[in-house]
Amino acid sequence: MNSAAPVLAPMALPEAMQQRFAKEVAKYPADQSQSAVMACLSIVQQEMGWVSPESELAVAQYLGMPVMAVREVSSFYNMYNLKPVGRYKINVCTNLPCQLRDGAGALAHLCERLGVEVGGTTADGLFTVQPGECMGACGDAPVLLVNDRNMCSFMGHDKLDQLIDGLRQSATDKATP
Ligand code: FES
Repeated sequence: MNSAAPVLAPMALPEAMQQRFAKEVAKYPADQSQSAVMACLSIVQQEMGWVSPESELAVAQYLGMPVMAVREVSSFYNMYNLKPVGRYKINVCTNLPCQLRDGAGALAHLCERLGVEVGGTTADGLFTVQPGECMGACGDAPVLLVNDRNMCSFMGHDKLDQLIDGLRQSATDKATP
């Protein structure tokens, strides 16, 4: 019986993505293209929504580096989604200073409001709720990040409800022709 694992094929990089990769690589000396690995992974995530094993392989081949080295980067930083997430990924800081000011309560409230477990995604694919690491705004706790970019501070339960309502409305508005 052949028990060998299936060989992973690299994702085919669309032309537009290759052009974006090339711009990032051009920022570094010719023999240091691997320095663009974080930027390339971010581009993959922006375009695909997450970083798949196939895309890691494609980035590794593009940059001429071992795929394991790419995986070390993608798995170290929690901004990279290593599985598909909802349209709005919400990371609530649960490190100690935020825990002292109801960070865990904020996370629990979001999960209850959206009907998901921690790390889960709503059935409509709109929201993923995850714990997060210190966001450098401990004095503003509870704090959270939406899609790794938009920081929200002092997120009591009322503000959390408003955030969810606002994001839902925004998704509806964008879906309306
Ligand atoms: S511990 Fe939460 S922002 Fe620093």
